[in-house]
Amino acid sequence: MAEQQDVLLQAQDLARHYRVSRGLFAPKATVKALDGVSFSLKPRQTLAVVGESGCGKSTLARQLTLIEPPSAGALHFGTTDAASADKATLKALRQQVQMVFQNPFASLNPRKTIAATLDEPLLINTRLSKAERLERIEALVTKVGLRSEHLRRYPHMFSGGQRQRIAIARAMILNPKIVVADEPVSALDVSIQAQILNLFMDLQAEFGCAYVFISHNLSVVEHVADEVMVMYLGRAVEIGPKATLFAQPLHPYTRALMSATPALRAADRRERIPIHGELPSPLNPPSGCAFHKRCPMAQSRCAAEQPLLREVAGRQVACHLV
Ligand SMILES: Nc1ncnc2c1ncn2[C@@H]1O[C@H](COP(=O)(O)OP(=O)(O)OP(=O)(O)O)[C@@H](O)[C@H]1O
Ligand SMILES: [Mg+2]
Repeated sequence: MAEQQDVLLQAQDLARHYRVSRGLFAPKATVKALDGVSFSLKPRQTLAVVGESGCGKSTLARQLTLIEPPSAGALHFGTTDAASADKATLKALRQQVQMVFQNPFASLNPRKTIAATLDEPLLINTRLSKAERLERIEALVTKVGLRSEHLRRYPHMFSGGQRQRIAIARAMILNPKIVVADEPVSALDVSIQAQILNLFMDLQAEFGCAYVFISHNLSVVEHVADEVMVMYLGRAVEIGPKATLFAQPLHPYTRALMSATPALRAADRRERIPIHGELPSPLNPPSGCAFHKRCPMAQSRCAAEQPLLREVAGRQVACHLV
């Protein structure tokens, strides 16, 4: 653990399994929503997490923000192991890791003014005076592109983009080290998305926070990411620097995802690789490589043996064939 100092967050074999009932008389089953994910996040870095619906992105977000404990694996914030942290340490960690949700219509309390929404974390977590809190709120509100007269208004008086600006301000108000953003622009008009992405990047440049940025949209990922983690059915299939992954995706799933994004395909005339079939259920995942039934390259080994992440050409890939 020599390089631990400059790692903000480290996830090791992080897993979250849910017991679900399948009917009155059927035995309970296990959903492996997250099934052993490892990565690290450095200060000021943006790690984008990408993958189809149901691959475990939001489950990962809930582990990283300590909303839910993992079923297995470890999460270290700097040198602090979240699993063995006492109550006071956990409270401090929760201040350092904030979350922005997909839907700004659902994530803001409709009965609270913007001032009250932004004041709440300060009231609970700091000893700042009323005047100091207001000063901090006003400064931040300007930075996210709103005005101080907005503070007296309620969420319903704002557009989706403005509400997401407020939600971002709420996440930033305690100066967190890490912000986990779960599809923060996918509920917004396309015309607004770029503005909000740029806001994320401006705030990062100013406050120096790191992002775990969840998105199913590779154009968004290309805009914001430093590192990219591609997930499939609860596991990472490829992790590496954005430039490396986008220039030469190696995992067949990463290649298929990229070829399905027209803007990326046009850029270098990449051939479209269709992904056949549905995403398998995490209740009953395929043997071996979870992608093998949809993979155009699959061989018999892929059905028998689960590939582990290994270093290939400047990134990590979990595939027997690359
Ligand atoms: N509390 C829960 N109980 C049971 N199953 C769950 C629970 N939360 C998530 N799951 C299941 O775990 C899997 C991963 O879900 P998750 O919401 O993390 O996916 P996601 O990648 O965020 O998808 P999306 O892109 O649609 O938001 C899904 O099969 C989901 O049904
Ligand atoms: Mg989700």
